[in-house]
Amino acid sequence: MKYNFDEIINRTHTSSMKWEEYKGSDIIPMWVADMDFKAPPPVLDTLQQSIEHGIFGYTLIPDGLNEIIIENLYVLYKWKIEKEWLLWTPGVVSALNVACAVCGRPSDKIVTTTPVYPPFFAAPSNNGKFLATVPMVEINQRATLDFDALEKEFKNSSTSLFMFCSPYNPGGTVFTNQEINRLVELCAEHNVIICSDEIHSDLILDRDKHHIPTASVSKTAAKQTITLMAPSKTYNIPGLGASFTIIPDENLRNKIKFRMRGIVPEVNLLGLFAAKTAYTECHEWLEQLISYLGKNRNIVYSKINKMPGCRLNPIESTYLAWIDVRGTRLDDPVAFFEKAGVGLSDGKFFGQKGFIRLNFGCPRSVLQEGLKRMENALGKR
Ligand SMILES: Cc1ncc(COP(=O)(O)O)c(C=O)c1O
Repeated sequence: MKYNFDEIINRTHTSSMKWEEYKGSDIIPMWVADMDFKAPPPVLDTLQQSIEHGIFGYTLIPDGLNEIIIENLYVLYKWKIEKEWLLWTPGVVSALNVACAVCGRPSDKIVTTTPVYPPFFAAPSNNGKFLATVPMVEINQRATLDFDALEKEFKNSSTSLFMFCSPYNPGGTVFTNQEINRLVELCAEHNVIICSDEIHSDLILDRDKHHIPTASVSKTAAKQTITLMAPSKTYNIPGLGASFTIIPDENLRNKIKFRMRGIVPEVNLLGLFAAKTAYTECHEWLEQLISYLGKNRNIVYSKINKMPGCRLNPIESTYLAWIDVRGTRLDDPVAFFEKAGVGLSDGKFFGQKGFIRLNFGCPRSVLQEGLKRMENALGKR
């Protein structure tokens, strides 16, 4: 491997959200979704050049950045988008909130599935709307959408928006063409816009699985979908706040643009230049990252499934393992594993108590130490 993902980089004293939580203690943070790897070297060089230049003024979208995105989406998914469909935002969550603000009337419902990335729960009420949730179903050890329950919910009362996480966080489901088409049909039938958060789309770990952008499956899908994407998870630059939204429908796009005006700031210079370099010069780095994460995933899968009371389904994408610990009968699994020296995310914040989320985007030796601590603690009970 050309890139050294085994390197341990000290993140203490960097105000890292992930590491500050356990400052001064011997707890390995394996919670928040950023990785403990350096960003790709070409991205670091680009940032270095900006720092050396020394002026951080208001910045336009760099020449060629939108064109690179258009080309990548075509190469990866045969999805042809127009330049004017693209809007840059300083984060996916802010775009998700704008979508909730724009879609539907104040009394409308916004639907999502559970468990899900916690900011999905807050976005509707942040914007004066109601939230309704539909649990995912597990079929053959894979979480997927419960179409019947979704239909019932859409019929139940006026739903304006469906917040879709694809690939899925947590759990890592990569949705199939058939699943996405069915969702699109269902939403079209009930006049529901889809906000498709595809932030994890570059992190597909199974070589035989492929991400399919929701908006790319048909003309109907394009018309009713707001797509959210970013280089942030993929290239480990989430703190730089650069993401983009793709909205083919002009009317919807104008509403979103109008709502953002004066509230959502422009993306900063470092984020924009890092994004351009990430999408143009870092293919090899990403290939190697996927292969490294795939091996970490295999280790997590095999170790966790041997731990008493723990169950983990195969993980198709992301660096996040969604572990069912109900069999341990622990009242507070997160506190238990913290005591054992591992900091995990609590499933209750994702809408599913009895589960924990483990971030395996870290050097293998750190992962192995974390898993050993979990295993020992469960063994001693
Ligand atoms: C599904 C999903 N959407 C959005 C985000 C965060 O996006 P941003 O930091 O760009 O707001 C995350 C981070 O973990 C995520 O998992």
